[in-house]
Amino acid sequence: MIEVKNLRKTFHLKSGDVTALDGVSFSIEDGTVYGIAGYSGAGKSSLVRCLNLLEIPDEGTITIGEYEGIEARGGEVYYQGKKMTARQQNQMRRGIGMIFQHFNLLERSTVFDNIAYPLKYTGRSREEIRRRVLELLDLVDLREKVDVFPSQLSGGQKQRVAIARALAANPKILLSDEATSALDPDATESILNLLRDLNRKLGITIVIITHEMAVIKTIADRMAVMEGGKIVEEGTVYDIFSDPQAPITRKFIASSSPLGKIDKLIAENSSLTQVKKGEILAKLIFQKDCVGEHILTTMAQRYGVNLNIILANVEYLHGNPLGGTIGILSGDAKSIEAGIRFLEENHVRTEVLKDGRVD
Ligand SMILES: Nc1ncnc2c1ncn2[C@@H]1O[C@H](COP(=O)(O)OP(=O)(O)O)[C@@H](O)[C@H]1O
Ligand SMILES: [Mg+2]
Repeated sequence: MIEVKNLRKTFHLKSGDVTALDGVSFSIEDGTVYGIAGYSGAGKSSLVRCLNLLEIPDEGTITIGEYEGIEARGGEVYYQGKKMTARQQNQMRRGIGMIFQHFNLLERSTVFDNIAYPLKYTGRSREEIRRRVLELLDLVDLREKVDVFPSQLSGGQKQRVAIARALAANPKILLSDEATSALDPDATESILNLLRDLNRKLGITIVIITHEMAVIKTIADRMAVMEGGKIVEEGTVYDIFSDPQAPITRKFIASSSPLGKIDKLIAENSSLTQVKKGEILAKLIFQKDCVGEHILTTMAQRYGVNLNIILANVEYLHGNPLGGTIGILSGDAKSIEAGIRFLEENHVRTEVLKDGRVD
């Protein structure tokens, strides 16, 4: 379990104070893949750095792994009523693996030595370390690269080495800060698949920090959205993607969805988006339990409403349809009204973007 309550962190700079975390609270169940999304500067990295105490929060309570109720106040952290020693902090950190955008590998050490590094000084014999490193390389499917240097690896392979290193001490939690942000789409996909596999195989809890919504959609079960040091939205990935509430989340999702193009078309006053008198331009968004596209055909036929499709995109997320259609509905006013009611009853959310029924 990871639980954070009222976490605060302000950086004091010559140019003024910057509040990176402004009272953050959330919790993550064991074994979950949890995404934290937000634009640059939202406070995501500060949050993960506070989670493993690489950064000491000003205030707040953290439960992470076996460490329940670590309390921060006045620039210090307390555990079970006493100031937490450096040794305790290191011990706690050993239960948490971390991976980064730029891999942070030792360039002058081989893949083997990079992965073996965190196992040094832990009382393991050379033979035990060798066995563990090879086991980890198998886990990330990179056995044949054991003796090469990082400069001879692709970005995706470097991240695999970093993942193996992060898992060396068998952590129950893996924190990933923009781990795929420097990778091309193929490498991103393969790293996300690997993380998903590790979550399933090892039961490890994974916290994915990213500015890319697509990453969260691919891999996470639940998610939070951060803005200005606060969590502005939290829930299952499906619920947030199918019905985002906070303005920033809506913007974020529109920018990563093909349906988001409509905003640009409307802003440009594209001829595609012109509605005649009596017509409406509407977003028809599939919700959980919606049977999918044929409900639109049924509506059109049953109510005699014509649907002129401008954009359409549907994918399936956790077994439910996500996305929908944007188009112009025409017909007589009563039919359109009844058609929309029918769609709503059948789990299609309608959002009128332009209304030609009013003058
Ligand atoms: N070590 C630091 N010193 C000063 N300001 C920082 C430091 N780390 C982060 N900040 C500031 O805190 C805010 C949040 O940053 P960060 O947590 O890195 O956001 P994100 O990871 O979402 O991009 C930003 O305004 C950033 O400039
Ligand atoms: Mg960051």
